[in-house]
Amino acid sequence: MSLPKNFLWGGATAANQCEGGFNEGGRGLANVDLMPLGADRYLVGTGQKKMFRFDEEHFYPAKTAVDMYHHYKEDIKLFGEMGFKTYRLSIAWTRIFPKGDEEKPNEEGLAFYENIFRECRKYGIEPLVTINHFDCPMYLIENYGGWRNRKMIDFYVKLAQTLFKRYKGLVKYWLTFNEINMILHFPFVAAGLYFEKGENDKQVMVTAAHHELVASSLATKLAHEIDPENQVGCMMAAGSYYPETCNPEDYWKAICDNRESYMFIDVQSWGYYPAYAKKWAKRQGTVIPFEKGDEEILRDNTVDFISFSYYSSRVSSANPEKGKQTESNIFASVVNPYLKSSDWGWMIDPMGLRITMNELYDRYRKPLFIVENGLGAADTVEEDGTVADDYRIEYLKEHIRAMIEAVEEDGVELLGYTTWGCIDLISNGTGEMKKRYGFIYVDRDNEGNGTMQRIPKKSFYWYKKVIESNGNCL
Ligand code: BG6
Repeated sequence: MSLPKNFLWGGATAANQCEGGFNEGGRGLANVDLMPLGADRYLVGTGQKKMFRFDEEHFYPAKTAVDMYHHYKEDIKLFGEMGFKTYRLSIAWTRIFPKGDEEKPNEEGLAFYENIFRECRKYGIEPLVTINHFDCPMYLIENYGGWRNRKMIDFYVKLAQTLFKRYKGLVKYWLTFNEINMILHFPFVAAGLYFEKGENDKQVMVTAAHHELVASSLATKLAHEIDPENQVGCMMAAGSYYPETCNPEDYWKAICDNRESYMFIDVQSWGYYPAYAKKWAKRQGTVIPFEKGDEEILRDNTVDFISFSYYSSRVSSANPEKGKQTESNIFASVVNPYLKSSDWGWMIDPMGLRITMNELYDRYRKPLFIVENGLGAADTVEEDGTVADDYRIEYLKEHIRAMIEAVEEDGVELLGYTTWGCIDLISNGTGEMKKRYGFIYVDRDNEGNGTMQRIPKKSFYWYKKVIESNGNCL
């Protein structure tokens, strides 16, 4: 087995799902704070229900999350114990610019992340920073309409520039937007979009996506200018669509479904909208709001690597009656009879990871980085205080095996692998604590009860060996 010696093993989190401390350190309010637990979460996340203030009827898990805001030293120490080479985290925009359009950044927020990066360095952990993981200042949503407004480009670029300057020498791996293709599936979360009645939702999403793509290119440009050592990646919610049958109609549907995700990454990697994407936008009755200079910005500032999340493959059918039978990370899918599913209905397909990696590498010919993978499952703390999460070990083992095959057998270039939610955190899709991904258990439940105690699970010790052996010992 031969993964590169400097292969970046690690884990990933996002600020809003682990930090808490929503009103501490001068932090402003963000869209993700207002995502409630329960049935309304999906409606709010898709921009169909307005939730711009906290109310008494709902519980808002991100307010406290797993309180990493106060536990980060202890948590990073545990990552160090596992031997992490990298830790992927995101910046809460509202810690740096609480409203989003201020002149000057909030020093307390900047210092918070600087401390985190220094703590990582203590253990030889390379930070991998997502500039924007599903968060948008509420002030920008209420006063500018979120990413539908072109002014968002300037606010975001200012944030990015502030980070590149302040953390020069401390951080070198950056991702501009988490799962940029999620904008079509969870638009309030991905781009701060809420839809007014009678509005053309599709046009709003196409406009917001274009703004994010231009912002991503401008940030990439700045990152390279400020420090030529910087490596910038795009990030896609991946997991290839398979056709349900060999009927050409199903195969064509799978191509079209895949393209609805690829089109974002095509722009970030190739530097232009491919012909099919322009035709797609037109078919939706939308116009891509190009302005003077956009074409050059996109063309001249493509990403250095392609990062992606992978939880599952998906299945397409041309038969509209099949519709959505299950979901895979908010994306609709027909059920694949050859696969088992998680307790949340996400299909488990390790070989799909190898397939997805090959498809992405064939398409982009740039190094890949798997920045999310894992199994959301309910864990039980035994009487002796241990957590025996063999199901998680099994899932990860099979996926890592497939990943190594893609590298060794197929020649895919891969920079690293970070599992999702390396410490338990709140679920983005459901807001639950019960849906756990971590190597480290956090004593907290769906309703917010618990001591916040951290307990290494069985998978903690297993992953430590995987890293130690560079994937040879699974
Ligand atoms: C990805 C996101 O979509 O999937 C994460 O980048 C998210 O933020 C992860 O948590 C898993 O999804 P869920 O719904 O199980 O939390």
